[in-house]
Parts: sequence; structure tokens; C-alpha cells
Amino acid sequence: MKTIIEPFKIKTVEPINFTTREQREVLLKQAGYNPFSLTSESVIIDLMTDSGTSAMSAAQWGGIMQGDESYAGASSFTRFEKVIKEITGMKHIIPTHQGRAAERILFGITGGAGKVIPNNTHFDTTRANVEVSGAKALDLPCPEGGDPALIADFKGNMDIKALEAFLEKEDKANIPLGMMTVTNNSGGGQPVSMENIRQASELFHKFGIPFFIDACRFAENAYFIKKREPGYESKTIKEIAQEMFSYADGCTMSAKKDALVNMGGFLAINDDALAQEARNILVVTEGFPTYGGLAGRDLEAIAIGLEEVLEEAYLKYRIRSMEYVGEKLTAMGIPLVLPTGGHAVFIDAKAFAPHIPPHQFPGWSLSCEMYLEGGIRSCEIGSVMFGRTNKETGEFEPSRMELVRMAVPRRVYTQSHMDYVVECLEEVWRNKEKLRGMKLVYEAPVLRHFTARLDYV
Ligand code: F0G
Repeated sequence: MKTIIEPFKIKTVEPINFTTREQREVLLKQAGYNPFSLTSESVIIDLMTDSGTSAMSAAQWGGIMQGDESYAGASSFTRFEKVIKEITGMKHIIPTHQGRAAERILFGITGGAGKVIPNNTHFDTTRANVEVSGAKALDLPCPEGGDPALIADFKGNMDIKALEAFLEKEDKANIPLGMMTVTNNSGGGQPVSMENIRQASELFHKFGIPFFIDACRFAENAYFIKKREPGYESKTIKEIAQEMFSYADGCTMSAKKDALVNMGGFLAINDDALAQEARNILVVTEGFPTYGGLAGRDLEAIAIGLEEVLEEAYLKYRIRSMEYVGEKLTAMGIPLVLPTGGHAVFIDAKAFAPHIPPHQFPGWSLSCEMYLEGGIRSCEIGSVMFGRTNKETGEFEPSRMELVRMAVPRRVYTQSHMDYVVECLEEVWRNKEKLRGMKLVYEAPVLRHFTARLDYV
């Protein structure tokens, strides 16, 4: 059979609230032209994020009832720890309430003024946690990653030559750890090859620097390795994931992605002393080491989700969902980051609306129009998120790319929902010349996209 179907049946459903364009015009204006400020009832298809939006399985809901809510030494923690140790091979598993809490603890210990953290591309919360500690977040993406239209297998890779040049010139004492984000979310959800993970690991280790993985979408990355990297076609997803983690000394994880749950995360570390320090902070800010900000039932659901996410039928359907939308949009001529990534379809807004300069936020404008047209909520990953005004020169420094991300929640939408999204974009594309530039009316000092208010110029 050619048709790849959703590998599940639907047992529980949630109604969608429909709105008209006129209603959406009022709602978006009230929201300060910021999709983050819309209520979910005003949204028809929510592609703002794949984070915490997964549909849980019957097995996970069953596990919720089995959750052991003991303060210390809960059996749910033992199960959680066992599954994560099995996949990552790491020695210390520290639960946190979500990914950024793991980052906060890690960089709270290792960061600080004068330090630099290299990564293929930091996600915004990772960058913020590095910067809040006083350290510098350095992105070293491979050159292919910066060309949206270029078709290549592993556009999420780190630029190994640039990393080597950096490590040779920088004082090692200033580099507490190196990181690799899989898949590379801000770079278009593009995968990182096993070879690249291995090379980065070898380089960091050559200079005596620990190597961490930001593992949010590790299973999607492993699936791409299986499909695209020679030598991995007959390995299981679990074996590939195990090899990925074998090169690392630790990882941060947002369970809200590839653990198929609505909340949770963890920090995994091999080094005993670092793990001890992390647990000391954990007790103060998250909770006791065997629950760390989560309920026993959450730990149970994560353990089950981490097993389900490794199933190949699930990953095949998952990755195909993105390809499907990507193929239809490409056929219409809509510029995308190609090939489509693991968790999202990214539209190249710079090419979609070349008449809007980066300082007038073409991605933000496109994302507003998608909402107005079809009630679709997406997320700008461009100059509102990453652009800066240089404090010394007063000049605007744009983001490397102006993208709109349509992140697809896991196991939530069907093919006809995706067809609706495609139809909506067809209409926006037809009227692309009418897209207007935007300006910021309010911005917070960090992570401004979450609370910014904008208007049309
Ligand atoms: N790292 C990456 C690569 C992420 O994509 C995210 C979250 C985090 C870390 C932080 O995890 O949300 O559990 O604190 N990304 C979400 C997104 C928010 O929409 O891409 P968290």
C-alpha cells in the first residue's frame, strides 16, 4: 500500500471552535498582533508548537493511574530512570519540570561571565539560560543550514571546521561544555548525522571539554539517520539513539517533545560531582531528586512515551506528515526550508514576502496572515525572536533567517487537517503582495517574542 496512515485509532476527541475572518481580525488586534497572546479557542489549527501538545496513548493514560505519588523513592521514578538509562546509557537521571529547567540547572553550574557555550544552534530558551548565567551562546551551524532551498541530508549539522578553529583559539577554561541540538530546531528542524555527532564529540573531548546533547527530538533525529546515513538502514531506532548518546557526557531533555507527554523533562549526566551539584540545586528549585518538579504519574507517562516514540511505524507516519505538507506547498511554489524537517514545516518568509525588509518582520506578518486567513497559529522564527538592536551602534541586526514554523503536534491532527492548512496557505500565497511590514510596540528584555505587541507599519 502506498498510503501511509496514522498508526493509531482515536478514542478521545476534543472539539475545534470555528471562527470567521471578521472575528479573527478583532481577536488578533486585541492580542497585540501576537499569536502567543491568542486564546486557544480562537485558533482552528494550532501549529504554534509541537511541545507539550502530544496526544497521549491509552497505555500512557493507564500509566497515569499507576503513578506512585510517594515523595521519595517512588516506583514511578525507578521506571522513569530505567527507561532513560536504557536509551541514553547515562549514569545520573535527574527529573525536571521541563527542558528549560534542566538547562537552567546545567548552565547555573557551568555558565557564568566570560564562558562560551558552542552549539550547532541554541534554541531560544537554551540561549536565554546561557546568557542569563552571564555566558555567551555561540552558534556554529554548517553552511548548508543557512540556505533554505538547498536539499541536503543533514542540514542540522555543526560546522566542524569552525568548531575546531574556535577550540584552538579560545582558552579551554572558558568552555565549560559543548552542545549539539538534535534535531536542530531553530535551524529548520533539520537532523544531525551520526558522523557529525561523533566528530563534534571527538573534538570536544580532544580539548578536554564535556559534550552534551539537547535531546528534545532525539527519536526523530534517529529516524533520519536510519533513512539517510549509510550503515544505519538495518539498525533499530533504539540502537541508533543509544549510539547517539554514547558519544555524549550528558543531555538535557524536554519530554514535551519526543517523550510524547504534556509536561516534563530531565537532565542526564555521567559525571558524579556535576550530578551532585545539579541535585543540590534541584532540591531547592524543582523538588526532591526522585520527582524533580513532576508528579509520579508524569514520570510514568514519560517512561511509556519514551518507549512508544521509538516505534518505527510511529516515526514513519510522523516524518511523512511533514513531507506530505512540504510536497504540496512546494508544488505551489511556496518557498520552504527543504527538505522538510522532523517536527515542523518551515516557510522561508524572506522569499515569500521579499518586499518586507527583515526589520519589518516578514515572518511575523506572514504568521499573522495565516491566522487571519484560516485560524492557523504558527510561530515566527526570525527577527522578532532573534533580531537585536546593537546597543553600541544602534543598528538593527537581523536573524540569520526569517522563518515561519508550522510545528505539528504529535498524534493530534489527521491528514485532512493538514489539507486544510495547505489550502489556507494557497490563498495567502495568492495574495502575498498584500502582506504588510510590522513594527514592535512593546518588547520585554529577554525572549521578547512571547509577550511583544506589534502593529502594522
Ligand atoms: N531545546 C530545544 C531544542 C527546544 O525545542 C526546546 C523547546 C527546549 C530546549 C526547551 O524545552 O519547552 O520543555 O522548556 N522548544 C519548544 C518549541 C518550546 O516550541 O520548539 P521546554
